[in-house]
Amino acid sequence: MDDLIERAARDLAGAKNVAALTGAGISVESNIPPFRGKGGLWEKVDPMEYAHIEAFRRDPGKVWEVLIKGMKDVIDQARPNAAHLGLARLEKLKRLQTIITQNVDGLHQMAGSSDVIEFHGSFAWQCCTRCERRVPTRKLDLDRIPPLCRCGGVLRPECVFFGEMIAPEHLARSQRIASQCEIMLVIGTSATVSPASYIPLISKESGAKVIEINPEPTALTGSVSDYLIAGKAGETTSQIVAQLERLI
Ligand code: OAD
Repeated sequence: MDDLIERAARDLAGAKNVAALTGAGISVESNIPPFRGKGGLWEKVDPMEYAHIEAFRRDPGKVWEVLIKGMKDVIDQARPNAAHLGLARLEKLKRLQTIITQNVDGLHQMAGSSDVIEFHGSFAWQCCTRCERRVPTRKLDLDRIPPLCRCGGVLRPECVFFGEMIAPEHLARSQRIASQCEIMLVIGTSATVSPASYIPLISKESGAKVIEINPEPTALTGSVSDYLIAGKAGETTSQIVAQLERLI
C-alpha cells in the first residue's frame, strides 16, 4: 500500500492535466451511506420503486417520504472529509483540474474545489415540476409532503432519477475531459452505473493512467484501472497529498 501511495504521488507530480471521478464512497467518511454493498441505501429502499422518475410521477409524496426527506437530513448534517479536502488541495497544487462527481451532496464545493461537474445533478436546489421555479433546498418547508411551489406544483430535487438523461452539457464536457487528461483518479465508485462508468474507460482508451482508490475491487479493477490503492478515501488521499507535497 505504501508503495502505491508513493507511486500515485510520483504519477501526480509529473502530470499537468488530471481529472477525478468520484462516487458515493468518497462521502462515506462524511456519514453519507453509499448505495450498494453493506449498509447501502439500496439494501433498504428498492431504487425502482423510489428512485425511478416514473415512481416519482406516480406518487411524489411516497418518494419524498421514504427517500428524499431522509436524504435531506443526511446531507444537511454532512461536512467534507479528508478526501474532499485532499482533492481541493490537489487543485491548489495544480495537480487536479476538474472533478466529475456522481454525488449530489455538494461536499467537493464545500471543501473548496472550484471546477466540479455534478454528473447526477445537485441536491442543493429543488425545481417545480409545473412552472420550473427553482427553490434552494435549505429554504424548503417540509411541513407538507410533498413540498409545493407557490404555483401549487410539486417540487423535486435537481438530481437525476433513474430513467432520466444526464444533462447533455455535463455528459459532453465530462467525455471531453476524460479523453484529454493524463491521469484519471477514480475514488469511491463501484463504476456500475452508466454512462458515468464509461468515463474511466474513455480515459484509458485515450492513453491516460487510471488510478483507483477504493477499499474493495470494482468493475474497473484489473482491466481499466492501472492500479487500485485499497484503502478508504480520506486516509489514502491525504497520504498521497502529503507525499506529493514532499516531492514538488
Ligand atoms: P456505490 O454505492 O455503487 O459504490 C460505492 C463505492 O464506494 C463502492 O465501490 C465501495 O467499495 C466504495 N467505498 C465504500 N466506502 C468507502 C470509503 N470510505 N472510501 C472509498 N470508497 C469507499 O456508489 P456509486 O458508484 O457512486 O445514481 O453509485 C453510482 C450511482 O448509483 C449513484 O450516483 C446513484 C446510484 O444509483 C443515481 O441515483 C442516478
